[in-house]
Amino acid sequence: MKSLWFLAVLFATVLSFGLRGGAVVATATATAAAAAAAAAADLPQPVSDADFRQHPDGLRKLGQMLFYDRILSGTYRVSCATCHNPDRASSNGFLTSPTDEISEDSLAINGLPLYDALKPSAKHAPPLFNLGAKQFVTLFGDGRVARDDKGGFISLVGDRLPKGLADVLAVQSLFPTVTGDELIGVVDNDIKTASEIGERAVWQALVKRIQDLPGYAPLISNAFPGMKDPTELTIAHIGNALSAFVASEWRSDNAPFDAYLRGDQAALTGQQQRGMDLFYGKAKCSQCHKGAFQTDHRFYNVASPLWRFDAELPLDESLFFRDRSDFSGKSEDRFRRRTPSLRNVTVTAPYGHAGSFETLKQFLKHHLDPVSGMARLSGKGAGNMGLDDELKKIVLAMTQTVDLKPVDLTSKEFNALLSFLGALTDEQSIGGQLGRPKEVPSFLALD
Ligand code: HEC
Ligand code: HEC
Repeated sequence: MKSLWFLAVLFATVLSFGLRGGAVVATATATAAAAAAAAAADLPQPVSDADFRQHPDGLRKLGQMLFYDRILSGTYRVSCATCHNPDRASSNGFLTSPTDEISEDSLAINGLPLYDALKPSAKHAPPLFNLGAKQFVTLFGDGRVARDDKGGFISLVGDRLPKGLADVLAVQSLFPTVTGDELIGVVDNDIKTASEIGERAVWQALVKRIQDLPGYAPLISNAFPGMKDPTELTIAHIGNALSAFVASEWRSDNAPFDAYLRGDQAALTGQQQRGMDLFYGKAKCSQCHKGAFQTDHRFYNVASPLWRFDAELPLDESLFFRDRSDFSGKSEDRFRRRTPSLRNVTVTAPYGHAGSFETLKQFLKHHLDPVSGMARLSGKGAGNMGLDDELKKIVLAMTQTVDLKPVDLTSKEFNALLSFLGALTDEQSIGGQLGRPKEVPSFLALD
């Protein structure tokens, strides 16, 4: 629900366009032709098969079943697909809302089934596009799962990480299974009891659940031809299968932008080309949103709010997403989060890691000048939701350390940029390649 106030902010933002003296404009003194030539030179190489890891079909198929099977959750009511749903472009479409406030109404707005007893995290889940591309070796907004430089992995469990995990995505896939607000659930269940002993106990219990389901036996033997019988299955096998599925399922490199990079000049409209030149040129988006996937995989504070200002929400600790400093321990990393890829960004609303902006346009307006944006939002939001002193301090600290210089664009340029973001949408890729199976070996309901 949008308040009048929010509309007023938008209106004011539109009016102020072109009036602000931005840092970037001041430096863009080159002629339009030279700028265009420079922008063209900065375009990334098109991606090809060589940029992606390849995964055998048997492994992908097992991973597909595990991804959709609620058997991996303590309560038998949540699967990976609950939050990474193919109908929602591998995200959950959640607008930020505090966990305690989950009600039938709030979920009805989001169009998802009621979680009641589960109360899983109400966080906005990121989409999973192109995570099988070899350059994605740092995962989560704070980078808490990553490949280290010795060929091993960085994760929150250190040397308790199981052996035999194939890649960073396999490592990542084990963490939702040991998180209360993801797969364990908050009501009493056997997995929750196991979690009191530790991650390994959870993983052992999940492996047993899979081994006990006859429907998995043929899938397992197809996925791991060397395995004599499912008693040899380990959690690393499960992680590797989930990884193979996620890596290949949402590969997305057939957008108009890709066609253009591969030489089809007509794939983009004139407006999209102008937007692309801005993106990889004057507007300096590619400083962070670098390369063909629009990410440098590094961390920045772009003063992206962690809460919504247009709703009367109480401040709740659960709203606070982790930032890079939680992981690195460095104070300069406070509020920094990983640059997201912008593939299919037009279909992955809402925006910002916390899902605090309903539309891409709203987010982009904020993103072009986040300090002013934050002042506008928190000033009005303070009255709106009773921002306490603690939150005001957070807003201040966030804006004082922002890593993003304001970008001044005319409304024509703004529209061109938006239009270019549309050229990153690969319609075919959105629902996934294998898609939702008809049924899973546990015969539990599908998300
Ligand atoms: C209750 C919702 C929920 C469930 C269930 C869930 N996820 Fe997620 N997933 C999230 C959220 C939220 C994040 C972002 C966390 C962060 O960045 O700190 C995330 C992040 C990820 C990422 C990292 C994406 C990136 O770009 O870094 C991957 C991969 C992923 N999930 C896969 C899975 C798999 C596989 C499963 C099932 C085993 C699963 N998720 C279950 C909500 C969920
Ligand atoms: C200093 C680095 C940096 C620059 C420069 C930058 N961005 Fe971003 N961008 C980020 C980060 C970091 C995020 C993630 C914000 C968050 O976590 O909420 C982001 C988020 C976004 C998102 C939202 C993605 C989503 O799914 O929610 C869009 C769209 C976007 N940027 C577009 C742009 C455009 C267009 C430009 C150029 C005008 C630009 N960015 C410049 C770092 C940058």
